[in-house]
Amino acid sequence: MFPRIWAVLALLSVPAFAADPIQPDEYRQRRANVREKLAKEKAVLVLYGASEDERGDLRSRFFQEANFYYLTGWTEPGARLLLTATDEFLFLPPRNEVKERYTGRKFVPGDPNTTGLANVLNLNRFEVTFFQQLDKSEKIFALLNINKNSPLKRLTGQRPIESAASLIFPLRQIKSPAEIAAIQHSADVSIAAHKAAWLRAASGLFEYQVSATMTNVYFEAGCERSSYPPIVGSGPNSTILHYNRNDRRMDAGEVLLMDVAGECSMYAADITRTIPINGKFSTRQREIYDIVLGAQRAAIAAVKPGMRLAKETENSLHKIAFDYINSHGKSLKGEPLGKYFTHGLGHHVGLDVHDPGAPVQPLEAGNVITIEPGIYIPEEGIGVRIEDMLLVTETGAKLLTAALPSDASAVENYLHERKR
Ligand code: GLY
Ligand code: MN
Ligand code: MN
Repeated sequence: MFPRIWAVLALLSVPAFAADPIQPDEYRQRRANVREKLAKEKAVLVLYGASEDERGDLRSRFFQEANFYYLTGWTEPGARLLLTATDEFLFLPPRNEVKERYTGRKFVPGDPNTTGLANVLNLNRFEVTFFQQLDKSEKIFALLNINKNSPLKRLTGQRPIESAASLIFPLRQIKSPAEIAAIQHSADVSIAAHKAAWLRAASGLFEYQVSATMTNVYFEAGCERSSYPPIVGSGPNSTILHYNRNDRRMDAGEVLLMDVAGECSMYAADITRTIPINGKFSTRQREIYDIVLGAQRAAIAAVKPGMRLAKETENSLHKIAFDYINSHGKSLKGEPLGKYFTHGLGHHVGLDVHDPGAPVQPLEAGNVITIEPGIYIPEEGIGVRIEDMLLVTETGAKLLTAALPSDASAVENYLHERKR
C-alpha cells in the first residue's frame, strides 16, 4: 500500500510566500510611470479602492480592487488615490471604532506614514484637493466601469472623464521580475493542488471532494482565495466550460476535468488538467486527449512576441490550435472536431485571472498568458481541456507550469502511483 498520507503531506510542503512580494520602490515606480503619462496628457487620475461595504457580503473577505492595488499595494478598504503629473495623494477614511470592533484597527491619516505614498490625507480632504489639482489640468482619468464613480461624476459635472485603462493596463501587461516570481509561486502551489487531486480522484467520490482536496493545498500554503470558483467536472460535466456545481459522483471510465488554481499574494494562477478517473484513458478518450495536447503544443511552440491570441487576426495562435484540432480526428458522425473547440485560446494572467490584454493585441516579452485549447463533445460525455501558463520571452516563451505533466502516458503513470 502506497503511504498516501505522506505523499500528500510532501506535496503540501510548498513554502509560504512573504505577505507582499512587491517592494515599495516598485509601487513608486508604477506610479511614476503613470504620472509621466499624466504629464503628457495634462491630466489627473482618480481611483477608488474597494470599500468594505461592497465586498462585505459575509461570503468573502475584503480584497482590494486590482488596479488600485497595482498602483499602491494598499490592502485596506475605502481608500482613494489621486495622481497628478507632479504629486500623489492617498485619501483614507477616518477612524471608525464601530467597524474596527468587527474588522480590526485600520491605518488612519495621522498615523506615521508607512504607506509609501508622499501624501496621506483624510478622505474628507478629497474634494478640495481634487479641485485644486483640476485647476492645473485639462483632463480627468478614472476607471469608469470598475470604480463606483458616480460621486466623481457628481463632482465633475459636464467635464468628460476618460478611461484610465489606457494609462494602467499597458503597464499591468508587462510583468516585472517580482511579479513573475509571485505568479510562479501561485502556479507552483496550484500544481501541488493538482497532484494531490490526482492521488485522490477515484470512482465513487464526489466532485466537491476533489475540489476540497485541491483548495486545501493552496489554503494550507497561505493563499488567500481561489483565482476563480473551482471547476471539477466528471463525465458529462467535463463538457461544460465553467461548470462549478461540483456535486456529481464520479465513475470509473469517465474523465475528470479540473480547472482549479489559487490566488496567492494577490497574483492568480490558472491551470487545467483532464485525467481518467480509473487511471487509464479509454482509446477514444486518449485520442481526443492527444488531439488537444497536440493543438496546445503547436500553439505553445509558436508563442513569441508579435503573435496574437485572437481567432480572426494575423499571427493567430488560436488558428494554429484550431487548425490542428480540425484536421485531426472526427466526431461520431464523421465531422471534423473544430466545432467542439468552443472558447478562446487563452488570456493574460496576473492580479486578475483574466488580466488586462485584448486577444487581438500582439504579445510582448513580459506578458504572462494561458494557452488552453479544449474539445467538448456532449454526445460522448468527453470534455478535455489542457491549460498551462507561459511567460512570453524575447524569443519565445517559458512554460511556468512545466512541473505538472500533461503527456497522457506521464499522467497515467502518475495515477498508477496511487494504487501502489
Ligand atoms: N478558469 C478560467 C479560465 O480558464 O479562463
Ligand atoms: Mn484560463
Ligand atoms: Mn482555467
